[in-house]
Amino acid sequence: MAEASLRGWLLWVLLLRVARAQLYTPVHQPGYCAFYDECGKNPELSGGSLASLSNVSCLSNTPARHVTGDHLALLRRVCPRLYTGPNTTYACCSRKQLVSLENSLAVTKALLTRCPACSDNFVSLHCHNTCSPNQSTFINVTRVAARGDGQPPAVVAYEAFYQRSFAEQTYDSCSRVRIPAAATLAVGAMCGVYGSALCNAQRWLNYQGDTGNGLAPLDITFHLWDPSQAAGSVMQPLDAELTPCNQSLGGTTACSCQDCAASCPTIAQPEALDATFRLGRMAGGQALVIILCSVLAVLTAFLVRMRLTSRDRDRAWDPKASPSLSNQLSLSTHTFLSSCFEGWGTWVASWPLTVLLVSTAVVAALAGGLAFMKLTTDPVELWSAPNSQARREKTFHDQHFGPFFRTNQVILTAPTRPSYSYDSLLLGPKKFSGVLDTDLLQELLGLQEKLRHLQVWSPEEQRNVSLRDFCYAPLNPHNTSLSDCCINSLLQYFQSNHTRLLLTANQTLTGQTSRVDWRDHFLYCAK
Ligand SMILES: *[C@@H]1O[C@H](CO)[C@@H](O)[C@H](O)[C@H]1NC(C)=O
Ligand SMILES: *[C@@H]1O[C@H](CO)[C@@H](O)[C@H](O)[C@H]1NC(C)=O
Ligand SMILES: *[C@@H]1O[C@H](CO)[C@@H](O)[C@H](O)[C@H]1NC(C)=O
Ligand SMILES: *[C@@H]1O[C@H](CO)[C@@H](O)[C@H](O)[C@H]1NC(C)=O
Ligand SMILES: *[C@@H]1O[C@H](CO)[C@@H](O)[C@H](O)[C@H]1NC(C)=O
Ligand SMILES: *[C@@H]1O[C@H](CO)[C@@H](O)[C@H](O)[C@H]1NC(C)=O
Ligand SMILES: *[C@@H]1O[C@H](CO)[C@@H](O)[C@H](O)[C@H]1NC(C)=O
Ligand SMILES: *[C@@H]1O[C@H](CO)[C@@H](O)[C@H](O)[C@H]1NC(C)=O
Ligand SMILES: *[C@@H]1O[C@H](CO)[C@@H](O)[C@H](O)[C@H]1NC(C)=O
Repeated sequence: MAEASLRGWLLWVLLLRVARAQLYTPVHQPGYCAFYDECGKNPELSGGSLASLSNVSCLSNTPARHVTGDHLALLRRVCPRLYTGPNTTYACCSRKQLVSLENSLAVTKALLTRCPACSDNFVSLHCHNTCSPNQSTFINVTRVAARGDGQPPAVVAYEAFYQRSFAEQTYDSCSRVRIPAAATLAVGAMCGVYGSALCNAQRWLNYQGDTGNGLAPLDITFHLWDPSQAAGSVMQPLDAELTPCNQSLGGTTACSCQDCAASCPTIAQPEALDATFRLGRMAGGQALVIILCSVLAVLTAFLVRMRLTSRDRDRAWDPKASPSLSNQLSLSTHTFLSSCFEGWGTWVASWPLTVLLVSTAVVAALAGGLAFMKLTTDPVELWSAPNSQARREKTFHDQHFGPFFRTNQVILTAPTRPSYSYDSLLLGPKKFSGVLDTDLLQELLGLQEKLRHLQVWSPEEQRNVSLRDFCYAPLNPHNTSLSDCCINSLLQYFQSNHTRLLLTANQTLTGQTSRVDWRDHFLYCAK
């Protein structure tokens, strides 16, 4: 009796546990899949995004399939790392999945093509996710979408467990690959708002598993585990083989230094500079003393010699001695010049009025051209030649489309407010100028709205004119309403709406919760 009730109680506990946590991947062991084959579109995604066109997989916690024939050939082409031999290859993906995988990897492979090792690691990572025969050991399905009767449910979210070193090395092999056409790093396009500067392995993976980006067909949560975390867990984080980007791969050369920091030649550290003061090879102080003493000695000798020669000259001066040739020459030049200038001065002084009048007339005649001087102030005339290509294009544009619009600016400053730093949950600490403060922005919004609604009585028009009568409204130029006017302002990130500017929310990112406000929204938009 007691035994029966105990058994019933155990069954009850088991039922409770199953009911509480729906396990979609109950078996986690090598050789078992977590999902298999395609099960149509993800019903959670709507709209025409690229992701909503891709198919998601069917839930299937079953043994991996033996792969043969052209299925095997396809696997070998798309995921060469998973090929283990003609009769020994098992996988968790169907032919259709392989075709889809190849298509969806094509774009990213093109981005990473400059570094084959990186491209290969990236493909290998996604091949393991989709095809590894040991899929269930590192993948746990967390959400499915039910389909019609008798059909397996579709997987719409799963978590993937990776060895941290594996994920980081994969990321490192790709982190420096460039897109030369855009002069940026490829990971910048694969890391969402973080860009290439703030990207890391976790963020890079998160972006790839985020349906919000319009590219990922299902949600993937990536857990990067240290070896100690894996001990004792049923999950065995993926730790596959990978190629460092400085290693050559199957005939191709290793990635260049431009695309892979590890490939750069190591430059020997220059020897530390000697901190003591030196001049050439000698100690500086000693050299300075020697120089100073030499200068003093030369100076003393010079002075002594000067004294001696002048005393000699005093003693040996003879007025009757005939001067040398050079002295005669210099004397006659001097005499000639002084008589010339003396004659000129006498002449000018004898005709003062005539000289003044004539020189004034000459200066006036020479400066007369100033009357015809024209100053060019129009920047268009100043910076472009009348027949230049740019000028002709501008003339054509102005003739046919009307002159370009003119911007009017209001510049706001807050000189007395110090800048402050703001710790953004998403993008880390950022410096904000003092002018970017909530109360100032609210005032700015008030001013902006006041200007926008300004009305002025126009006697010619016999009505009130407002901004909408002359504003630049490219989207509705003929029947412009006030909301069509083009206004560029920080507040447009909030649709110039008071309520939206002041919105806040509590957000959690990788376990850290904090309040986000307009600053985060602004940083996000500006990114
Ligand atoms: C799957 O796991 C088995 C046993 O742990 C291992 O021998 C095999 O290499 C793994 N296969 C792959 C593709 O990781
Ligand atoms: C999704 O699956 C359907 C039916 O199998 C197929 O026709 C379609 O091409 C697949 N879509 C993609 C993007 O692979
Ligand atoms: C492949 O495996 C099957 C059975 O598993 C066996 O009969 C066949 O001889 C094997 N072929 C090769 C080439 O090993
Ligand atoms: C797998 O996901 C389920 C939720 O669907 C969860 O209850 C379970 O704990 C997860 N298993 C592991 C090993 O994380
Ligand atoms: C690649 O770089 C690592 C360290 O950055 C170094 O240990 C290794 O020898 C390099 N391999 C090649 C082939 O240069
Ligand atoms: C024109 O604007 C003024 C205020 O700027 C307002 O008092 C007046 O009623 C307006 N007139 C018309 C006809 O809208
Ligand atoms: C101009 O726009 C207003 C609404 O903004 C509309 O009622 C009116 O019919 C439009 N006029 C023309 C000529 O399109
Ligand atoms: C401002 O935004 C709030 C919330 O989105 C909305 O309810 C309100 O109508 C908006 N105000 C204006 C003037 O558009
Ligand atoms: C955010 O969290 C704080 C407490 O940390 C709470 O007082 C506040 O109501 C929360 N705000 C929202 C919008 O959930």
